Amino acid sequence: MIPIVFSLFNNLNFAEAIKDTCNYEMGEISIRFFPDEEIYIKINSNVKNREVLFVASLDRPNSKFLSLIFAAETARDLGAKKITLVAPYLAYMRQDKRFNPGEGITSKYFATLLSNHFDCLITIDPHLHRRHSLTEIYKKSNLVLHAEEKISAWIKQYVKQPIIIGPDKESEQWVSKVAQNIQAPFLILEKHRKGDSLVEVSVPKLEQHQGYTPVLLDDIIATAKTMIEVVKHLKDKGMRKPICIGIHAIFAGNAYTALLEAGADKIITCNTVTHPSNAIDLSELIANAIKNGLSS
Ligand code: R5P
Repeated sequence: MIPIVFSLFNNLNFAEAIKDTCNYEMGEISIRFFPDEEIYIKINSNVKNREVLFVASLDRPNSKFLSLIFAAETARDLGAKKITLVAPYLAYMRQDKRFNPGEGITSKYFATLLSNHFDCLITIDPHLHRRHSLTEIYKKSNLVLHAEEKISAWIKQYVKQPIIIGPDKESEQWVSKVAQNIQAPFLILEKHRKGDSLVEVSVPKLEQHQGYTPVLLDDIIATAKTMIEVVKHLKDKGMRKPICIGIHAIFAGNAYTALLEAGADKIITCNTVTHPSNAIDLSELIANAIKNGLSS
């Protein structure tokens, strides 16, 4: 039987791309809350002996987690033979060590919980910093895809004379590849995070890059403090207003407006998290990867 794909939490564009590209069936699921806020769940399609894919981007994960697990367990209970989680954005990747005594390493615990319920995980650019591979914490098979080619194509099409700027050491992994793809120069800055919303960034001399359009590139924009700091420095150094590109548009609170007000010319994101700034569509990236390698 052909695999069946379900969209959870309004991830219909990714689910439809998978359905169309792979010739899968689109499944129907109802999730609602009882008056006491417990979750009601009903899978309205036949999943018996089938490969089942749940598409669920995991921004704001706490409000989604239990429904996600219940969806997987309902499918298993109804006879699904393999259950894959397609999470364009994978949450809980940043607390990857005990920075202070007594802290929980939540990336590890979250990975264990998901691994207990899903047979396979597909995601895009998870925040791998001190860990080099998802396999270090995800026990089941996983596939990590990268947005760099789509981002490179966007910059190539829309930005004249770009210089790609990464705000910290870990951004070098994607910044250097994008710069190489479009044969643009790049700079990696030094960042010190002093709190959830307190970030310091050091920016080197930029005289030789005055004619360039700065393109700031980061994986996650959450509070946007990282980008705001860089934008302010660039302004002080007389550079053009930068274009800010984030893969995952988390934008906590007023982060989006604050970044525009700080002096970003444009804010562009990929659509792993639905947001008005989404301009780079990654649904085909996931759909093609599944078509080329994962369907069984
Ligand atoms: C962390 O190291 C990430 O790569 C991003 O730089 C970070 O998540 C951005 O967070 P914020 O927008 O809160 O500064």
